[in-house]
Amino acid sequence: MDATSSNSRVVAAYRERTPASERLSREARESFPSGITHDSRRLLPYGIYVDHAKGPRKWDADGNEYVDFYGGHGALLLGHGRAEVVEAVARQMERGTHFGAGHELEVRWGALVREMVPSAETVRFTSSGTEANLMALRLARAFTGRAKILRFHGHFHGWSDHVAFGVGDHFDGTATPGVLAEIAQNTVLLPADDVDAVAGLLEADGDIAAVILEPTGASSGQIPLDGDFLAGLREVTRAHGVMLIFDEVVTGFRVSPGGAQAHYGVTPDLTSLAKILAGGLPGGAVAGRADVLELLDFDAAAEKAGQSHFRICRGVTGDSRCSKRRF
Ligand SMILES: Cc1ncc(COP(=O)(O)O)c(C=O)c1O
Repeated sequence: MDATSSNSRVVAAYRERTPASERLSREARESFPSGITHDSRRLLPYGIYVDHAKGPRKWDADGNEYVDFYGGHGALLLGHGRAEVVEAVARQMERGTHFGAGHELEVRWGALVREMVPSAETVRFTSSGTEANLMALRLARAFTGRAKILRFHGHFHGWSDHVAFGVGDHFDGTATPGVLAEIAQNTVLLPADDVDAVAGLLEADGDIAAVILEPTGASSGQIPLDGDFLAGLREVTRAHGVMLIFDEVVTGFRVSPGGAQAHYGVTPDLTSLAKILAGGLPGGAVAGRADVLELLDFDAAAEKAGQSHFRICRGVTGDSRCSKRRF
């Protein structure tokens, strides 16, 4: 930041109150590009380093208190350190966190998602919102047998190759460095809020597998969309056999208990969830039409391929039912 700018007094006061953050930011530069661990934390002259947080407030390494509008990037619907959450996490740490096996709580969790989110006929958990969207896009392509994805300028869906460009830059749809041109060519970018443009595109191009969007608008709804647009999208995608994917990583459980889709009464084919889904811990999910998620079902896939005991037989030796099967 320019020290002669009109902000210089503000910057000087900031530096004076945050010497521990300044020291940590200098150290961080030795380990991390730009000294940060997430793009959104790039602040000049440096960002704060938080020591602890409680409810809606957090305190930095120098003891300054802040009202936390970040809310864990939207994940902490219940605020920081809510007693019930702390207690539940501590209890589970004692009991174990990664069993390499099923667990009763995952069954309850999946059932709750199905109960709350209108589109959620079945659910597949992932580790993040990025992965949920990746899975949703792959499912859409596999289900429709089509290659292309339609996205909207500025809408954020994580950092996989399919959605990396056209969010903060590369609005012309060209690939950001490291992303294959072929991937970019299979992604069409349009301005949001123009159903006619979407309808025209779907009419002209029969190779669109899915339309994905943040249902309340780009940047978590900071560039808002309304319910009419969502209803219009639902109509045109259905008419063309195109999967409609709501990225409800931020809006899920927040706009209403059933997300933006429950609030607006528009049910997509697939929904991506994360953040609030896992209460601020890593976690995500694709939820949606059972016939689409069925592509992940061993029995359904095996039935299609004429290998009905695929699941039973995997890893099983000496089972007579398995020996005759092809794998
Ligand atoms: C709308 C939206 N989709 C997807 C993501 C990616 O989620 P994650 O950070 O869990 O990979 C985010 C993250 O901020 C998001 O806001």
